Amino acid sequence: MEIRPETPQDIFAIRELTEAAFAPMPYSDGSEAQIIDRLREEGNLTLSLVTLDQDQVLAHIAFSPVTIDRTQGNWCGLGPVSVAPSWQKQGIGTTLIGEGLSRMKKRGAAGCVLIGAPDFYQRFGFQSDPALSYGNVPRQFVQFLSFDGVIPKGAIRYPPAFEISGA
Ligand SMILES: CC(C)(COP(=O)(O)OP(=O)(O)OC[C@H]1O[C@@H](n2cnc3c(N)ncnc32)[C@H](O)[C@@H]1OP(=O)(O)O)[C@@H](O)C(=O)NCCC(=O)NCCS
Repeated sequence: MEIRPETPQDIFAIRELTEAAFAPMPYSDGSEAQIIDRLREEGNLTLSLVTLDQDQVLAHIAFSPVTIDRTQGNWCGLGPVSVAPSWQKQGIGTTLIGEGLSRMKKRGAAGCVLIGAPDFYQRFGFQSDPALSYGNVPRQFVQFLSFDGVIPKGAIRYPPAFEISGA
């Protein structure tokens, strides 16, 4: 399997894969594929990686710039991330997320934030903090991974693309 940045030829497959992966998720409002398209249009798709097996796109991850009140540095937001339903639970998501985080660190990001399941993301070192918030989302789902040891504090602001989501 290969992990590489998206090309224009991948865009349709990324949309289909994202829709299929999030469709059964109770926490999804169905906006994730559109968010990725909008991030790309806005110029806010900082990093978009795909996992391929024989030219088939099996997984995708997006990173975009975020700001955090009372916190300096170039922080990024992780997500949406998805693995095609029939390829889940084989380690593909873990490998892709690890590769994405490593690339963002090499690019000089201060760290990364996300809204997601603590059980899954703690394997990468993500944690929550009472001082880090995103709207009314319960704090344990608002997670960060610091690359330089700084603990982020304040409200997270994602790019406009995310305003279509219900969060
Ligand atoms: C989340 C996702 C990207 C993980 O990819 P994956 O390739 O299936 O993950 P891996 O095989 O690397 O790891 C599987 C592990 O993740 C856990 N996991 C997957 N989704 C989870 C979730 N929503 N909450 C908690 N744990 C989750 C599995 O239970 C499993 O745990 P284990 O390693 O302790 O057995 C994939 O399941 C997916 O596309 N889900 C639908 C879209 C989605 O929810 N995206 C993330 C939004 S935060």
